[in-house]
Order: sequence, then C-alpha cells, then structure tokens
Amino acid sequence: MMRRKLVAGNWKMNGSCAALAELDGIAVAAAAAPGVDVAVAVPFTLIAPAAERVPALVIGAQDVHPAAGGAHTGCVSAAMVAEAGARFTLVGHSERRCDQAESDGDVKAKAEAAYRAGLTVILCVGEQLAERDAGRAEAVVTGQVAASLPDGAAAAWLSIAYEPVWAIGTGRTPTVADVAQMHGAIRRQLAASIGEEADAVRILYGGSVTADNAAGLLRAGDVDGALVGGASLTAAKFVPIVEAAAAL
Ligand code: PGA
Repeated sequence: MMRRKLVAGNWKMNGSCAALAELDGIAVAAAAAPGVDVAVAVPFTLIAPAAERVPALVIGAQDVHPAAGGAHTGCVSAAMVAEAGARFTLVGHSERRCDQAESDGDVKAKAEAAYRAGLTVILCVGEQLAERDAGRAEAVVTGQVAASLPDGAAAAWLSIAYEPVWAIGTGRTPTVADVAQMHGAIRRQLAASIGEEADAVRILYGGSVTADNAAGLLRAGDVDGALVGGASLTAAKFVPIVEAAAAL
C-alpha cells in the first residue's frame, strides 16, 4: 500500500507574529513537493494570521477541548480552531499527556471532537524512557493506540505519530530498526482495532527529527512521515526535511 508522506511541524509554545515569516519559505517548499503533505501546528493565537498569510499551507492546532463549548475557562474547541483556519489538530502529545495528565480516554474524546468539527487528526503516542528500559515500550505504545483510537477512525482523517518521550527535544533518537519495529507493532494494533483500514493509516515518527536524520528515518518500514518540533521553527531547518521526504 502506497501512503503519501506527511511532514508536520509542531511549534509548541513558540512563535510570534514575526515568526510567521518562516511559513513563507515552508509554503514554497510545500508547493515544490506535490507528492508530500506538509502541515504546521501553530499556537492558537497564530492560527488565523498563519492561515491568512499562507492559504496554501495546511495550518493546524496543537490541541482541542473535547466539548463543543461551555464553561471551560482557557480552553478552545475544535470548531473554534476550524473557524480560525485550522485544518487539523494534534491530540495526545506527550507534553499534554504528561504535563496536563491527559488520559487515553481524553485523547480519544478530543480526536472525536476534532472529526466532528471537520478537522483531520494526528494522534500522538510514545513511551517514557523507564518504560523502554523495562522492555515495556511496545506494550505501552500499542496500549495507547488501542485506548485512544477514536470511534470511526479512518485513514482519510487520522494519522498516528509515534514519539518516544525520551527522544523529544533531546537530540536522541531510537535506531531506525527500533522505529521500524515499533511502527510495525502500531500497524498490527491498528489492524486489530480497525481491520483492513489500518493499511492506509499513516504512521509518523517524531522526536529530534532533523535534516540530518530525516532521510534515514523516513525510509524505515511503516514510517509514513515525520512530526517535527524544534526543527520546524525555521524554514532553514524544516525545508530540508520536506525535501528529504519528497526525494524518497
Ligand atoms: P522535537 O519535538 O522535534 O523538538 O524533538 C517533536 C515533538 O514533540 O513533536
């Protein structure tokens, strides 16, 4: 099964209006890579100006609340980010699972809310270092996939991002063989959960992806793209990753 590569940036809590200029170069690179889907998840405050500035580039949110609206001070609904111009959202990023104590059930509800609002979803999973050291990485990650997969999950609107927590922002990455093995395990879990549809679901790798390691990681079995944090903040660092995906 041929799956289109997806290279997504995650700006996290970084970026100002001045930083939006970086999106210009990213949009040019995306247009020059018609075989690759390119997307950037920006802070809530930048969604509307980003979508307005680079309408051809897919702009997204980093989180949404599971409810459609109501008394949830400080939260933002899926419909709100969609109205602002987001076309996708991340859910279940480890910085939310860990810092905000989000459960698999929360992540599932958020993915379902995003779908109802017409967004596509990148659902993140990943083990902690202690879990890997204890030989439990695969069980933890496939458990997260099984428990946070939204009802009606389909490849047209859902991708999975495997991001080992110990590789995020650290400069450390698993071996390409370890990544391929985990992506294979995720796909088997998807097949158990949603049957043949699993073949079409894209599974991204995330965690210290750079221009230097992108090609090797993207060539690994069952790796259908990358979720990129630090290296997505500038066009100079992100564009070579898009180009590496396009060159495969
Ligand atoms: P990183 O972050 O590329 O800075 O390691 C990846 C992520 O958290 O999505």
